[in-house]
Amino acid sequence: MERELTLEIVRVTELGALAAAKWIGRGDKNAADGAATTAIRSMFDSVSIDGTVVIGEGEMDDAPMLYIGEKVGSKDGPEVDVAVDPLEGTEVVAAGLPNAQAVIAIAEKGSLLHAPDIYMEKLACGPELAGKLSLNDPVELTLQKAAQYTGRALSDLTVMVLDRERHADLIARLRGAGVRIKLLGHGDVAGAIAAALPDSGVDLYLGSGGAPEGVLAAAAMRCLGGDMQGRLLPGGPIEWQRCVSMGIADPSRVLTLTDMAGTGDVLFAATGVTSGEFLDGVRLIGKDRAETHSVIMRASSRTVRYIRSMHYLPLKRFPAGLAELPPIGQAASL
Ligand code: FBP
Repeated sequence: MERELTLEIVRVTELGALAAAKWIGRGDKNAADGAATTAIRSMFDSVSIDGTVVIGEGEMDDAPMLYIGEKVGSKDGPEVDVAVDPLEGTEVVAAGLPNAQAVIAIAEKGSLLHAPDIYMEKLACGPELAGKLSLNDPVELTLQKAAQYTGRALSDLTVMVLDRERHADLIARLRGAGVRIKLLGHGDVAGAIAAALPDSGVDLYLGSGGAPEGVLAAAAMRCLGGDMQGRLLPGGPIEWQRCVSMGIADPSRVLTLTDMAGTGDVLFAATGVTSGEFLDGVRLIGKDRAETHSVIMRASSRTVRYIRSMHYLPLKRFPAGLAELPPIGQAASL
């Protein structure tokens, strides 16, 4: 894939973040998601790819755009898989809380896992621990290995976990082992990425979150040299069958980084909507400017670029209905 594509896709996440940011704290997560989705979809066809959405807004019948199987891009570029979460953290935008982003990953055709929208148990770590840990191990053994391979005391390791009731047992076991825990409200793509960033203060990401978010995080891990494993958690026979019909023959097996994000080139871009683990959110400046903070990365070079952009809003190409903020309670026109 051409390296210029990283700059093309960050323009897409920027517009998505700017559209979603209009809905920060307005109590309407669907409108926020709709605005980001519409903005991102409108930009995609200028990107020089022949893309197919494999992780998107849902099945064709449920999602008006960016649905699984939808073709995106100008068609004059490489054939690629596209994973997109126009707004990772819909509820946090509605509530005005931290850690929401617009996220896109692009990978060589056939390399991204087609994951259903169910939960996935996750383990993510940075390059130092890549290839050394297993999701099949009891968590206490994982922590001991992490301490051993990083040469640090258990009490100096920090594990990030989504703050959920279902993680009560995991959190108790982590506390029992003596590690530090950083609880995350929402946004586990950023949580998993934090485990692979050298300056985040996070060593491991553990616990369950969305499976589509798991694939996006795995794409980022390919670019960061980190590692990620996942195990789908189908909540009954219907979800189990859904996994099988999406090509995952044994949904109970541990999925490796390669299973989720292949071995070829991957591009990953994210733009902060609200400030979070590693990106600042959209900042409105005066009445017509906004600043965005994005990250773009590429697996084949492992370059990680942070981009701070200043946008002049009257000249932004928002799709119809998104330039002006509708009254509270009225969804963006889709
Ligand atoms: P949404 O963008 O769909 O709101 O997801 C936010 C999120 O925090 C994800 O990052 C995470 O994977 C998932 O929700 C966890 O789900 P739950 O809130 O049900 O625990």
